[in-house]
Formats: sequence, C-alpha cells, structure tokens
Amino acid sequence: MASPAAPSDRSDRDALARPTAQAIGLPGGFYGPASFEMEHERIFARRWVPVAVGAEVPEPGDMKPVEIAGWHVLVLRTREGRVKCFHNICRHRGMKLVAEPCRRKRAIQCPWHSWTYDLDGALSATPMIAGDDAHRHEAFDNSALGLVEIPSARWLDYVFVNIDGRARPFEDWLAPLAGFFAGFDLSGLGHGTTIDTPFEGNWKFVVEGAMENYHVPFCHPQLSTGEKQGDWRHEVLGDCAISMHYAPEAFRKLGEGGSVVRQNSLPRCPRSPPDLGGRQYLITIFPTGILFINANHVGLNFLLPHGHDRTRYVRHLYLFGDGATSPVHREQREAVFDSWRTIGEQDIALVRNVQEMARVRDAAGIRTRFSPYWERSVHNFQKLYAGAIG
Ligand code: FES
Ligand SMILES: [Fe+2]
Repeated sequence: MASPAAPSDRSDRDALARPTAQAIGLPGGFYGPASFEMEHERIFARRWVPVAVGAEVPEPGDMKPVEIAGWHVLVLRTREGRVKCFHNICRHRGMKLVAEPCRRKRAIQCPWHSWTYDLDGALSATPMIAGDDAHRHEAFDNSALGLVEIPSARWLDYVFVNIDGRARPFEDWLAPLAGFFAGFDLSGLGHGTTIDTPFEGNWKFVVEGAMENYHVPFCHPQLSTGEKQGDWRHEVLGDCAISMHYAPEAFRKLGEGGSVVRQNSLPRCPRSPPDLGGRQYLITIFPTGILFINANHVGLNFLLPHGHDRTRYVRHLYLFGDGATSPVHREQREAVFDSWRTIGEQDIALVRNVQEMARVRDAAGIRTRFSPYWERSVHNFQKLYAGAIG
C-alpha cells in the first residue's frame, strides 16, 4: 500500500488482509490530502468511474459539467442522441468551457475568446483569430483542435468514464456485476428525483457509511422496525463491485409498506429471480458508484469527490413502470424520496466527525476495526482499495 500518506505499509497491508474479525482498517492518513492527490491518478484516471446519469442530459444539446477528484468532465447529449464526455477545457488557453448545467444548446462557446465547438467536440469557429474580420488563421488546423474526448460507456442509465483511456474494456470489467443482475428486468426505469447532498468528508468515508447497516438502528431509527435483519449475503464481484444484500424485513419503512408508506402500491420490478427478487441490494461499484435496488425503486447513486474532505453524494432515484410519472403514485414516491433525503442528512454530521478524527487518530496510535457480522462489505471495500492503489 505504498502511498504518500502511509509510507510504511507492508504491515498495514498485512493487517488489512486478516479475516474481518481480526483485520485493522486503513490508517487515517488515507483520508487526507496526500492520498487524495495519489487517487486523482491511480484511482480516478485509471478506472471506470460513474460521473452522471443519462437523465441529467435528456435532450440533444443538454450539458452537465462534472468535477471528480480534480478532473473536469463535460457530459453532453449530441444531436444524434448519444451521450459523450469531453475534458471541459478550451483548446485555446485552457479556460473551463461550461460552468453550469445547460439545456438544448447548439454549440459550446468559450467564455473567454469565443472559440466555438459543436456537440461532437469539433472546433467550428475561432472568431477574429487573425484580425478584426479574419476568423481563420493558416497556422491553425481546426480539425486538430477539437475538444478532447474521454472514453465513456453506459450501463442502466449510468454514464461511466475512463479518463486515461487505458482501463480494461468496459464490458469485461462490468461482466461480474452485469451478470449478477442478468435475471432482473431493469429496463423500464423512469427517473424520479435527484438528491445531491454535500458531505464535509472524504469520499471513502461516505462509501463506507453507505455500505453497512450496522449504524442504522442507532443513527436512522426511523427505518428500523426492530425485526431481525439476518440472512445476509456478501459477494465481491471481480474488481468491479462489492455486493451486500439482505432480506428487507428490517427496513420495511423504506418503500416497503411500513409506516412511512402504508399499503405501498408503487410498481415493482417486472422480472426478478424468485429467490432474489424480494431482497434489497446495496452494491458499491468500485470506487464511487452506489447502486441500490429495491423491489419498487432503484438508486443510481455515485460520489463526486471535490477535495480530500469534500464530497457530493448524488442520488438519482428511479421507479418502475409509471411509478415516476403517474399522479396516482405521487404520495408514495415522495415518501420514498423524503426517506432517502432524511437518511442523507442524518449521515452528514457522522462523516464530518470521523473526517476530523482521521487527522489525529494515527498520531494517537488508534487503529480501526470491523464488525464481522455487519461490516464485511466495508472490509471488502478497503481491500479492493488497497489493491487498486498498488
Ligand atoms: S481560452 Fe477559450 S477561447 Fe480563449
Ligand atoms: Fe447512514
């Protein structure tokens, strides 16, 4: 685990590799600025990472600028309806091209000197480049000065990018996860809402908080029915994802017909394997995707790290059939959305607290542990992380 944050690392790696009950978690230094610099390259450039969903750019000319671990990506919908991703950087003198989401644009015009790019990234105009009335210059080959495209790929409605262009082919990397859900019909999802929650903490703390239910009875008591949860299944799906799924008894209130949403009639997933369909799935798509699949709604969630201690947790909630649009379902879907909003707000202070302590716990000689019953998922995540940073 060589890292600027933890130069001593063989023993860290060995301690993390023990069985979950004996394992020691990542040192606090991994949640600090030096590790963030390292991850910019080793994690966020090298791997497939989710940056958006198609529903954020529904129509041709729609654009969304995204910042992820120091990279600036422009996600847009072309005239033909394809989603493409580019570095959000002008080829003239490096201005950030698009600062805010925008709709139905015909072109991208740089705010500084008005170089203009079409929706496929080609440089289409360089106004006044050679004088008051001279808009072309012989030394500039416009065909070689288009926006720099970033390889991208789609799954469900997710948009993934691979910034350095050298990751394994997307389909190979995703195969264990795509295969896992092959028996489910997830094709008819409609986008219901977006919840964008800012956390004052490292992206790994947000992931780790999202992938264990140990804290739920203590920190989200409104969800817990007091029933035993039991019946867990944990899987590691290649180097792509960490799965945790469980029978939903403990969390009936989350859109399952408990007190928040009585007699829930939201449309359900139209096809799922009989033994797996009723379960709740919390899948960490390594590093920053968090896919939640419930019988009647799905979260295509992901994190956008903006600094070592600043992370946006973007949750896109989808419903099956007409669940996202029909007035009949309005009350129930709003109850589901509100439930997720509340959960996010309750987690903000926890992440801020543990981030603060990450700065001092190494110096205090304090190492972290995992509950072998609840937190195999968190342990699996940290092992995948250790492998990924090399
Ligand atoms: S920096 Fe973009 S046109 Fe000059
Ligand atoms: Fe939580």
